[in-house]
Amino acid sequence: MQYAALVDDLLDFIQRSPTPWHAVDNACGLLAKAGFAHLLETDCWPSKGCEAGFVTRDDGSLIAFRAGRRPLLDGGIRLAGVHTDSPGLRIRPRPTRQSQGYGQFNIETYGGVLLHPWYDRDLSIAGRVTGADANGELVSTLVDFRDPIAFIPSLAIHLDREANKGRNINPQSELSPVALRLGEGDSFDLEQVLLDRINADGDVSIARVLSWDLLLYDTQPPARVGLRGEFIASARLDNLLSTYVSLRALLAAGDEHASMIVCNDHEEVGSVSASGAQGTFLSNVLERLIANEDSRADAFPRVVRRSLMLSIDNAHGVHPNFADKHDGEHRPLLNGGPVVKSNANQRYAGGSASVALFRALCERTGVPCQFFANRADLACGSTIGPLTAAELGIPVLDIGVAQFGMHSIRELAGGEDPAYLLTCVTEFFNRLA
Ligand code: CO
Repeated sequence: MQYAALVDDLLDFIQRSPTPWHAVDNACGLLAKAGFAHLLETDCWPSKGCEAGFVTRDDGSLIAFRAGRRPLLDGGIRLAGVHTDSPGLRIRPRPTRQSQGYGQFNIETYGGVLLHPWYDRDLSIAGRVTGADANGELVSTLVDFRDPIAFIPSLAIHLDREANKGRNINPQSELSPVALRLGEGDSFDLEQVLLDRINADGDVSIARVLSWDLLLYDTQPPARVGLRGEFIASARLDNLLSTYVSLRALLAAGDEHASMIVCNDHEEVGSVSASGAQGTFLSNVLERLIANEDSRADAFPRVVRRSLMLSIDNAHGVHPNFADKHDGEHRPLLNGGPVVKSNANQRYAGGSASVALFRALCERTGVPCQFFANRADLACGSTIGPLTAAELGIPVLDIGVAQFGMHSIRELAGGEDPAYLLTCVTEFFNRLA
């Protein structure tokens, strides 16, 4: 795999996926093209199972798998777990407001947003919309405006001389994006704007808009950055980088062992939802796949305990301007290969046995590997790893590539790390030890 081609594909995937729902839709497209069968949770699944399939929940979460030739009770399942959502600004049910003759979006924050970088960006909106067609039938569709249609202007330094001295941002009053200048008797009617846009796109036709989930995003395309082009700058690297690489690994995997990717929505807001990592999505799918092969009551725990999940989410690379934010011996570098994340207090999942397996895998494939552990005096982040381990009893190891600016509207990662990660995850699916 040429890493340049992989990076091109990754950046294209991220740009076409401004929302978790678009990311899942794009992933489903690639899976269907590769011959994976689309299963619905509400259907009866074929009793003989299927060789390769995928299933979604609530549009934002996706599980895809290869059944493998080896019995599950014998070989278990190799899973890669990622998340599809990213922190950002979302539009409230009453979506607009007016101030000083300007029409603005009425927003709330989603997840742990780094607020400052949202100022002075050319913003667009995207999401999913449900409306009624001419016969009153409900119709749902994805929408992406693509063009820059909103902007959150900074306050001039002349009007806030303290602006460079640690100013706080009030997300309720100081972050509303400006969308238009209103004339006399003018109004900002988002439902009409959505209706016009959806009908102009032509995929579906609706008579009125009933509901939506919409978010704002930066229209600046992803880019290669650096004197030698060794970095990639983009929104949503956390965690669409891991999502896309895991998907590519599954597509490239052989069919001897059972392999699976689990892409969860709602990680950035704590994972407590029907489609989040603390919900029932993964356990329901595993129960059905395992019961298809062996209906004995003990089959589920036996398969689960024989399985292993790599929970893949980006890690904090040591920032050259803020190096003391890291422990001196745990300073992951961009383009330094996957990072094994560990935390004695179980904020990350792992343990010496799974770390040893992963290190051996890296050595075998010639991929460098790094270690991260938080400073003891800083609160440690977490991800879907410990949650999935606790919910299912499945062994999990937390890894991920290093990045800067996590949760910024534009993040920076290394351009060689996606290929390192792809090599590791593909090897993990094909040959564990
Ligand atoms: Co993340």
